[in-house]
Amino acid sequence: MKEFEGKVAVVTGAGSGVGGGICTALARRGAALVAADIDAEAAERTAAGIADAGGRAIAVATDVCSRSSVEALARRAESELGGVDIVCNNAGVLVGGPMQEISEDDWQWLWSVNVMGVVHGCHVFAPMLIERGGGHIVNTASVGGFLSFSTLATYCTTKFAVIGFSEALQMELAERGVSVSILCPGKVHSNLDNADRLRPERFADAGGTSKELGDLGDGMDPLEVGEHVARGIETEAPYIFTHPEFKALIEERFNKVLDSFPS
Ligand SMILES: NC(=O)c1ccc[n+]([C@@H]2O[C@H](COP(=O)([O-])OP(=O)(O)OC[C@H]3O[C@@H](n4cnc5c(N)ncnc54)[C@H](O)[C@@H]3O)[C@@H](O)[C@H]2O)c1
Repeated sequence: MKEFEGKVAVVTGAGSGVGGGICTALARRGAALVAADIDAEAAERTAAGIADAGGRAIAVATDVCSRSSVEALARRAESELGGVDIVCNNAGVLVGGPMQEISEDDWQWLWSVNVMGVVHGCHVFAPMLIERGGGHIVNTASVGGFLSFSTLATYCTTKFAVIGFSEALQMELAERGVSVSILCPGKVHSNLDNADRLRPERFADAGGTSKELGDLGDGMDPLEVGEHVARGIETEAPYIFTHPEFKALIEERFNKVLDSFPS
């Protein structure tokens, strides 16, 4: 996919951080945006920012944990902006802490948003992209999908899962005209370290905390991540890395795996 002009892009988690940056970068290239977020006001702010800059955008309150909510998002996108060409399954949350303090609800919440949110986005939108003759999906993982970090076991488990799921989709969807990129950022300036603010009542029994991530204030500007994503879509990149400093660590990990094979 080389052209963004006239294309329709759906971004989940669009109300803050990485999702906002992706929306801005794609809108600047001429795409019409569907800004989806569980925080309706935040999604409205992103859409209004794009409209103020002369772009086209709508906001749709969406809970990616719920397949029916994602189906409603798809219906709104199609009826208001037309057929969807690009889907960025980006919404995510984080809880960390020593493994034994992580509660069942922590696991269920992260799994529901970070993994099932991506799965729902792909299940609902992939058939629509195929029917239109092709399109592009970007699933947000993390460098934490290749590298595990102490006290972030739950989060890293979900991100490893996003990579496994997305790599299978790359194979399944390629011959049907849909390419899949896996976004793997390092530290980004966002509200992920305050994700608890949105914790739903049904996952209320918190063991860990989003503060475990530490301060993200010195992270990469989300718009810079958005620019990486736009280039990744243009080039149909299988992986979109944003932080070169992680290359050596990922190499080290894979070397450790390879060195463990019997000779
Ligand atoms: N910030 C980082 O350092 C970093 C690094 C690597 C990967 N990521 C990933 O980037 C993605 C975006 O995170 P961010 O850092 O921008 O955090 P953020 O908290 O700034 O933004 C996440 C957005 O997702 C929304 N959201 C949460 N639950 C939702 C749900 N159930 N349905 C719909 N929307 C929901 C939030 O309202 C928020 O607007 C996540 O998948 C995260 O894991 C972030």
